[in-house]
Amino acid sequence: MKMVTFYIENQPYAVEAGKNLLHACLSLGFDLPYFCWHPALGSVGACRQCAVKQFKDENDTRGKIVMACMTPASEATRISILDPEAHQFRASVIEWLMINHPHDCPVCDEGGECHLQDMTVMTGHNYREFRFPKRTFRNQDLGPFVNHEMNRCIECYRCVRFYRDYAGGRDFDVFAAHDHVYFGRHEDGTLENEFSGNLVEVCPTGVFTDKTLKKHYTRKWDLQTAPSVCVHCGLGCNTIPGERYGILRQIRNRFNHEVNGYFLCDRGRYGYEFVNSEKRIRQPLLRKDRRSLLEAASPDSAIETLKEIFAESSAMIGIGSPRASLEANFALRALVGPEHFFQGVSDRETRLASLALSILKEGPARSPSLHEVETADAVLVLGEDVPNVAPMLALALRQSVRREPMKIAERLRIAEWDDAAVREAVQHERGSLFIATTDSTSLDDVATERYHGAPNDVARLGFAVAHELKSDAPIVNDLPQEVSGLANRIAVALKQAERPLVISGMSCGSDALIQAAANVAWALCGEGRTAALCFTAPECNSVGAALMGGVGIDSAIESIPENGTVIVLENDLYRRADRAKIDAALAAAKHVVVIDHLESETVQKAGLVLPAATFAESDGTFVNNEGRAQRFYQVLSDKPQFGAESDRDSFRRSDKVRSGGFVKESWRWLTDVIKATGQAGSWTNLDEIDDALVSALAVFAPIMKIAPPANFRIVGQKIPRQPHRYSGRTAMQAQLSVHEPKPPDDPDSPLSFSMEGYEGEPPSPLITRFWSPGWNSIQSLNKFQDEVGGPLHGGDPGQRLIEPLQTGPTFFDQVPDAFQRRNDEWLIIPLSHIFGSEELSVLSPAIAARAPQRYLSVNDDDAGRLGVSDGEEVELRLGGNIHYLSVKIRHALAKGTAGLPVGLRELPFVDLPSWGRIAKCNHNG
Ligand code: SF4
Ligand code: SF4
Ligand code: FES
Repeated sequence: MKMVTFYIENQPYAVEAGKNLLHACLSLGFDLPYFCWHPALGSVGACRQCAVKQFKDENDTRGKIVMACMTPASEATRISILDPEAHQFRASVIEWLMINHPHDCPVCDEGGECHLQDMTVMTGHNYREFRFPKRTFRNQDLGPFVNHEMNRCIECYRCVRFYRDYAGGRDFDVFAAHDHVYFGRHEDGTLENEFSGNLVEVCPTGVFTDKTLKKHYTRKWDLQTAPSVCVHCGLGCNTIPGERYGILRQIRNRFNHEVNGYFLCDRGRYGYEFVNSEKRIRQPLLRKDRRSLLEAASPDSAIETLKEIFAESSAMIGIGSPRASLEANFALRALVGPEHFFQGVSDRETRLASLALSILKEGPARSPSLHEVETADAVLVLGEDVPNVAPMLALALRQSVRREPMKIAERLRIAEWDDAAVREAVQHERGSLFIATTDSTSLDDVATERYHGAPNDVARLGFAVAHELKSDAPIVNDLPQEVSGLANRIAVALKQAERPLVISGMSCGSDALIQAAANVAWALCGEGRTAALCFTAPECNSVGAALMGGVGIDSAIESIPENGTVIVLENDLYRRADRAKIDAALAAAKHVVVIDHLESETVQKAGLVLPAATFAESDGTFVNNEGRAQRFYQVLSDKPQFGAESDRDSFRRSDKVRSGGFVKESWRWLTDVIKATGQAGSWTNLDEIDDALVSALAVFAPIMKIAPPANFRIVGQKIPRQPHRYSGRTAMQAQLSVHEPKPPDDPDSPLSFSMEGYEGEPPSPLITRFWSPGWNSIQSLNKFQDEVGGPLHGGDPGQRLIEPLQTGPTFFDQVPDAFQRRNDEWLIIPLSHIFGSEELSVLSPAIAARAPQRYLSVNDDDAGRLGVSDGEEVELRLGGNIHYLSVKIRHALAKGTAGLPVGLRELPFVDLPSWGRIAKCNHNG
């Protein structure tokens, strides 16, 4: 890295050559106001806010005003931030912006975390002299996620640059001209892009605010916050949930340079309201006998019942969960014994996850972080509808296609941060991204070439690419000429790339796709070169659960001992396996115990239900698709502390919907059972259970380094979850007592449920919020990074558990047969939906409003064969069930296949892909 020396106020500083002055100043810790520049979006020089005085040399006393974001920091560049003229210029810019900005901070949702407020204070512009009517706009209804208040706009253009240029959205733009520009849609309507919620953080004012927060609004300084990890897909984006009065109110981005960077997808941002759901289980439920209803019970009687169950059970199995923490799964495994512990997913998913893991552990290809995905210069996607299965991976791929064309800008000596100039130079050039899927995806607009086919045909394309790359890889016979031509073009592009990447996953339910992806990645490795291989994972801890071992639910069902006991951990089995089989198995078991946080069909079958904590009420560890173990921390303190006294207190409050009731971490319930039944292994805090986990399963050893232990202190203090301006705590529980209660203890982490504690910067895994003096908005993040846009001080949170071996691979050699269309049956393939397919997020009203109704998609040729048109109803016979579904015609689907959405609440589990019969419903007329 070439460094240059430049001067600020005549003091020398070293900075990486080629960075702009704003980037350099902020990275060095200087306060310099800005609006239009964003570390992820680059510079456009639109707002004129970052003005500094630049001098030719030390003898130059006049200097000239330049925009820091548009000026490179070159050797011997001399600037002044404090120069009075520059200072006055910046204050004047704010004054111009304020001409039309309403003075509505007290009623603006952005107030208290507003970059415009911060910059106004920073520039010293204190008094408004404009006395005339302000320009006003009509606001738009942009759907359930984002609120619109256009009068607050300062025309920085960040929103449109993020939405269109960065995230690929097309239904949002800037309209009109001069001093009357308008940022919105061409008409009212829901923002279509999957990343629309980032407008809330990208906009430096209150134009775009969180519509879900509005319903239970709380200022940033009144929110209790903690570091957390998104639970709505397998990517493990880092989040900051915010709580007050026992209600989870908001999810904000938690920057992790290696994972999600500055952004989140809308499922991750708005899926949180399941935590506040009326369907939460808040106290133990007990059924006296099979015919009676579940009734509320005290924790003591629940544990007593469990003791009796243990005493009389000759056999017991435990079914874990990919949405439960490592600690919860491990506690269940310890309770029932490894041989009686089952992964909580279908046998098909268990097999696919284990195949993907063995490929990553035993082959030479490495799983990339999302940041590494952004830097890939040629990509092949095999089978995954990335935007719907792993949304932030799609956002990373949108950035990756810019890598190769960036060379055009380099040749023209345009700096990468000079965003408008780069886009002008690059125009519509894109790097190689080949997408081979069963249906079209919303990423197809940036693909070099697309291929759509049945899963087997997509896999065959992959196998053919691998053979083109290395002749040792198996040959694919009888490939149509256009497909072999495509395979050749993909192979050439991947071979020429410096950082090739192959993406696949489990969402198609196909072993062959995963094997084909491995063959391509392995064929690219060797002779000092390596390739990245990314498998998506369905749920937040799918990889952690798979690393723990055990077979799947179908096998578990067969193993449920007649008259034995089954303990189900944070899992609705009806979403994972055939209904009839589960009904039969649960009916055969003498005792069904469920530990979960939400009502479900499985809960309805239980004799004993224990109320589990969600991610917001517990600490724990998830492993994402990269194999990165990450710690999440409890943010809601409104749950009972441990011990009979506080349990009784909570019981008195348990009629309140928002009360924590008897909610406890799943692993704590299981520890109680272990203790009560006198078994070995009982843990009093998270560190102890993690110690036991690592001793039992060495693969998890790095988790001991993901975060400081519970006894970690900085100058003897814990790290506060509440900001120092947190208000009203003496009054918050005045209905219970006028005395301010002692903050709840937290035996599991070095975080406190109070404002008191260490006010400085904690280690990165323990950052509870981004705030710095003078920087109340999310832009304060600059103060926590080594350089702006780069890793957090001390490194980004998380530890990788899986690293590749450097040995030569043995290629998979089972090339599947080409897909053969049938006359009277269709291959029903699974379709994922970002809104609707995931179990927890769909309980949030905003997400539910975006979820599709159930449907069946067919190719137009097949629709003609069936005699149906779009919207008409068909009858689908599948796995012994009949479903009535309306038809969606999809041109990209392969003939002879039909797409069925998975995970929708009104559709039962079906093990897909499988063959089904479709017929037009007679009542269509
Ligand atoms: S809406 Fe917000 S982000 Fe967009 S131009 Fe206006 S102030 Fe900037
Ligand atoms: S991509 Fe996945 S992990 Fe990231 S925010 Fe979205 S749902 Fe959450
Ligand atoms: S931040 Fe430099 S001109 Fe806007």
